[in-house]
Amino acid sequence: MKYGYFDDKNREYIINNPRTPWPWINYLGNEDFFSLISNSAGGYSFYKDAKFRRITRYRYNNVPMDSGGKYFYINDGESIWSPGWKPCKTELDSYECRHGINYTIIKGEKNGITARVLYFVPLKTWAEVQKLTLTNNSKKVIKLKVFSFTEWCLWNAASDMENFQRNFSTGEVEIEGSVIYHKTEYKERRDHYAYYSVNVPIQGYDTDRESFFGLYNGFDEPQVVAEGKPKNTEAHGWSPIASHFIEVELKPGESKDFIFVLGYVENKEDEKWESKNVINKKKAKETIAKFNTSAKVEAALADLRKYWDNLLSIYTVDSGDDRIDRMVNIWNQYQCMITFCFSRSASFFESGIGRGMGFRDSNQDLTGFVHQIPERARERIIDIASTQFPDGGCYHQYQPLNKRGNNDIGGGFNDDPLWLILGSVSYIKETGDFGILNEKVPFDNDVSVARSLFDHLTVSFDHVVNNLGPHGLPLIGRADWNDCLNLNCFSNDPDESFQTTENKTEGSKAESVMIAGLFVVYGRDYVELCKRLGKDAEAARAQKHVDTMVDVIKKYGWDGEWFIRAYDYYGRKIGSNDNEEAKIFIESQGWCTMAGIGKEEGLCTKALNAVKERLDSKYGIVLNNPAFTRYYIEYGEISSYPAGYKENAGVFCHNNPWIMIGETVVGNGDRAWDYYKKICPSYLEEISDLHKTEPYVYAQMVAGKDAFKPGEAKNSWLTGTASWNFYAVTQYMLGIRPEYDGLLIDPCIPTDWKGFKATRKFRGATYQIEVVNPDQKSKGIKEVTIDGMPYKSNLIPAFGDGKEHKVKVVIG
Ligand code: BGC
Repeated sequence: MKYGYFDDKNREYIINNPRTPWPWINYLGNEDFFSLISNSAGGYSFYKDAKFRRITRYRYNNVPMDSGGKYFYINDGESIWSPGWKPCKTELDSYECRHGINYTIIKGEKNGITARVLYFVPLKTWAEVQKLTLTNNSKKVIKLKVFSFTEWCLWNAASDMENFQRNFSTGEVEIEGSVIYHKTEYKERRDHYAYYSVNVPIQGYDTDRESFFGLYNGFDEPQVVAEGKPKNTEAHGWSPIASHFIEVELKPGESKDFIFVLGYVENKEDEKWESKNVINKKKAKETIAKFNTSAKVEAALADLRKYWDNLLSIYTVDSGDDRIDRMVNIWNQYQCMITFCFSRSASFFESGIGRGMGFRDSNQDLTGFVHQIPERARERIIDIASTQFPDGGCYHQYQPLNKRGNNDIGGGFNDDPLWLILGSVSYIKETGDFGILNEKVPFDNDVSVARSLFDHLTVSFDHVVNNLGPHGLPLIGRADWNDCLNLNCFSNDPDESFQTTENKTEGSKAESVMIAGLFVVYGRDYVELCKRLGKDAEAARAQKHVDTMVDVIKKYGWDGEWFIRAYDYYGRKIGSNDNEEAKIFIESQGWCTMAGIGKEEGLCTKALNAVKERLDSKYGIVLNNPAFTRYYIEYGEISSYPAGYKENAGVFCHNNPWIMIGETVVGNGDRAWDYYKKICPSYLEEISDLHKTEPYVYAQMVAGKDAFKPGEAKNSWLTGTASWNFYAVTQYMLGIRPEYDGLLIDPCIPTDWKGFKATRKFRGATYQIEVVNPDQKSKGIKEVTIDGMPYKSNLIPAFGDGKEHKVKVVIG
């Protein structure tokens, strides 16, 4: 069953049934000020950091689901309703939510009135703008009482939820004209406040939550709305909110716009006050003034659209299949931008409190957006590298607000350092900017021990070399990419975290074949980089380590039909036919086949066939098989999940593209694309009631074949699935891949495709690419022409001449 449809022209998903199987959300803002918004206007806002600068309050995992948001209540004399159906849940005559690229439009109709709300964060603005348009479609004059609503969060989203003995006494607001200011803690250590304004005179307001709702009412029945009369309350402690009251009269056919601005301000210490206890409102007023007419708001929205027109024009494909095109051209790229902004911190599955920016996550995310905003990727690489330790290890996460490593999580995840090579190389291949390697980058944010980014890559590489186990494979540490494979944890205390509790590495033989494959892939990248920089001795040294690792994997990492996954603390195989459960894992098949290990001897083909046979399912490739059915103390969290969920044999979508890329290495386009379609959200739109999460973005996990409900997805939006799918489909399957010396065109497509067209902007030139497939092959290059002239190779030069070039590639 579907709950809406794609509008590709406007780059929107249009939801026409508010009872979606789960809140289907969108993100506003992509720089400093952010909001999450559901299809019924639930959600919240924050500045940079969802934990430390939470601006409005939201209740996760509540009953009903999705409670709290940016609501409008309309009392038309007959009914009380909200344009997004919730929170009132009054049946609407019609409902529509358009989730667009960084904006959302929610429209409800009731009793002859249309209420349409446009929500977005204008570029370079620390505020969310909401334009409410009320239209009278009836033949009579209509009088409405309109109430806005948002609830302030007391900044730190964690203490806001627990420290009530303090919180209930600290809340402070100011009301001036049509602006409600939230200034809790401003008079002591905070340099910031928030505000909520509307561009018309108001007829009243409320800022005390209980007065607005009545102590025993929910979001669906605020007392003042029912009474049609605000109480003009000024909050002192308890829970401050902001609600404007506006009386509106509309003639038949008349429309009126009301512009609300929900913003955030920081003031310097000596500019905090206008007079005693009166905050300096200058910056807030400046922002409000920028959006005080409909024309200004529409112009800001047009700027936002233009910004995205540009970003989304860099890579486009015309494959002849709308479901592929809309993902590659619009939604997958958009999701990559969102994961770039938030890593895994704030979604409807991530509370914004628990996690900051992941070291490995952010490096992988980078591959999905580096073509769009290389300068921000550059900054991100430096930020990430700055949290590395001098021995190459690194903090697993850092906080976006202060960019410091997160002590609560610490380090010791031995795959982390290698991803920095991926991030840096992806950036350089896209931009040609080798200069980044000379940037001085601190260790653990200590500038006194700063060294070049290149040196950071060297210590990343050597972190593996210096931490090898008894077989010569990399020691796993706390875990590798699979956070839940905790081979040194041995936890029998339910109150400790698998990731951060004492790690018994002393005497451990736990090694990871996945890190070994990763090391071969990014070790080779490191070698090539060294050669480009003329560091031949270093290249030769590194090459030796890589070659040795390939031999070690063949010797100790091969199980006969597939690659084993790891060795445990005691040196016993994991992911081997000898094991009773979890005989095979996806990760090592992905990385070892991407590295082409044993390709000549047929190991890659065998491993990929084993994946097809044992891990593939209707809804994607599961992580391991058979699933664990009991807790193994020596394996950790992975065996804590019920069979078929998350890292225990779920379809963990992040790693499916590794197999797709592996299939392209052996030239099996049919299989690669078959896997792609199984997890591609636009292909799952028809089964939305099973799939549950948004049909326009990837989810982290779909319940696997051993689960109670195979096919049900969880954890949408913030997942490495976004960048890895984009990377796989654009660079390896469509095969348009940036290299140091140009754009490589090496597609691997289904045999029944006749070809495809694509546009790629790359280092200052535009490539109009046409791929044709007359012989019904998947891979291989028969002929290349550039601007009509035969060309010797499928590595197309980086022309950098600002011109358009026609590239034709014949597969054969
Ligand atoms: C984490 C990743 C990790 C993956 C697999 C995700 O939730 O963000 O860092 O690689 O889970 O465990």
